[in-house]
Amino acid sequence: MKNLLVVNGPNLNLLGEREQTIYGKKNLGEIEQKLVSMGREAQIEVEFFQSNHEGDIVDQLQGAKGRVDCILINPAAFTHTSIAIRDTLAAIGVPTIEVHMSNIYAREEFRRHSFVAPVVRGQISGFGAYSYVLAFLAAKAILAGER
Ligand code: DQA
Repeated sequence: MKNLLVVNGPNLNLLGEREQTIYGKKNLGEIEQKLVSMGREAQIEVEFFQSNHEGDIVDQLQGAKGRVDCILINPAAFTHTSIAIRDTLAAIGVPTIEVHMSNIYAREEFRRHSFVAPVVRGQISGFGAYSYVLAFLAAKAILAGER
């Protein structure tokens, strides 16, 4: 069985109550449940990690090396600030998909740059909670050797 690690950065624990017009009404638990059920169907074990702390995300990603087959990451605000998370993703060499619920290119200027984009396999941005579903499908294709 292949395994997938889903990492969510700061404030994504507040989904469902946080800026609903941008991020929608689903909370993180509901998004995770959807991924678990998609994983069950696809024979992919899905595990989750959310943290508001950059170093904890770095530690979690380092620990994923050689242990998980694929990563979905929404680094949230760290997308636009964190060279540390980018370096970790580059160092561990696990195929990774960057996920954003909002279209980061259609928002403030400071959100238009992603430090992690150059070191991931691809990015999905702008589909709300459905961004995670699309990212899961991309991960499934990678794990099946189709991408
Ligand atoms: C986000 C976009 C980021 O700019 C923001 O800081 C977030 C969430 C998204 O999923 O759209 O917290 O990553």
